[in-house]
Parts: sequence; C-alpha cells; structure tokens
Amino acid sequence: MKVAILSGSVYGAAEDVARVAQQVLQDGGFEAWHKPGVALDELLAFAPEALLVVTSTTGMGELPGNIQNLYYALRDRFPAWSGVPGAVIALGDSSYDVFCGGGEQMRELLLELGVREVLPMLRLDASESVTPDEDAKPWLAELAQALKA
Ligand SMILES: Cc1cc2nc3c(=O)[nH]c(=O)nc-3n(C[C@H](O)[C@H](O)[C@H](O)COP(=O)(O)O)c2cc1C
Repeated sequence: MKVAILSGSVYGAAEDVARVAQQVLQDGGFEAWHKPGVALDELLAFAPEALLVVTSTTGMGELPGNIQNLYYALRDRFPAWSGVPGAVIALGDSSYDVFCGGGEQMRELLLELGVREVLPMLRLDASESVTPDEDAKPWLAELAQALKA
C-alpha cells in the first residue's frame, strides 16, 4: 500500500516525526513516501492509497508556511479521496490559545475530501515532552495495524 506522508514544519520537529513515521511504515511493509513541501501535482502523481499528515502549528493557530500551498491547492482542487484511509499527527504547545490548530485545519480538510480517519488525531504537546518522535511511535504502530485492517 502506498502511503503519502505530508509534513508541515517550521523548526523541524514535525519533519523528524514524519521521518520516524516513514521508517515505521516501511518496516511494516508499506511504500511510505515523504517529501517536505510537496506540490499537489507531485502528490497526485504518486497516487496515494493512504495519507498521513504530520504538521506543527505556528503563529496564532496557523499551518506552517511549507504546507500552506498544499492546503490551499487541496481546498481548490478537491481530489477524489473519498474513502481513502488517513490520519493526522499534530504538533503544538498547549500554552498557546489554539492548541494544535494546524493539525485541526488539515484534519477538517481531509474529512471534507472524504478521507476516512482510521485513528484519532495524535496531539504532541511541546510543553510536556521534548521527544515527539519517540512519543509518536506507539501511535504509529497502531496506525500500521489500522491500515492493514
Ligand atoms: C512562533 C510560534 C508560534 C506557535 N504557535 C502555536 C499555536 O498557535 N498553537 C500551538 O499549539 N502551538 C504553537 N507553537 C508550538 C509549535 O507548534 C511546537 O513547538 C511544535 O513542536 C513545533 O514543531 P516544528 O519544529 O515542526 O515547527 C508555536 C511555536 C512558535 C515558535
């Protein structure tokens, strides 16, 4: 199964988590593909059979700049992803007013596109842990199981 991992990051933490996700999914036998800053055409050319979004939040609850273009392109072009399995990992900091707002925005858009959420969104709180990549591993193992089901 071809899994596209889409990451949005300002300082690199979400990209680290996305790289761990790629490794976990590859170890689980998936064709996991991760390209930070990917354009929609390139993503559609990969023809994903499942989607994982890993994004942090910046500003006041906003998506990082390197995933904004993809977000708007998805919203404009509405790819036919009805029933495609997917899930979201949101990195944030609960000391901000809009905790994990970037992940929430991507999750809502995926649901509008018809993506079938196979696991509740994982929220990784930078005010509680400085090892988001380690913290994500149990959830990623669950995701691999859910995608096989
Ligand atoms: C300028 C700035 C604004 C932020 N705004 C938010 C926010 O509104 N909500 C939130 O949950 N986290 C916010 N964060 C926390 C980051 O999302 C969090 O530290 C995350 O782990 C960073 O991941 P990254 O290195 O992939 O960008 C903000 C961090 C910075 C530096």
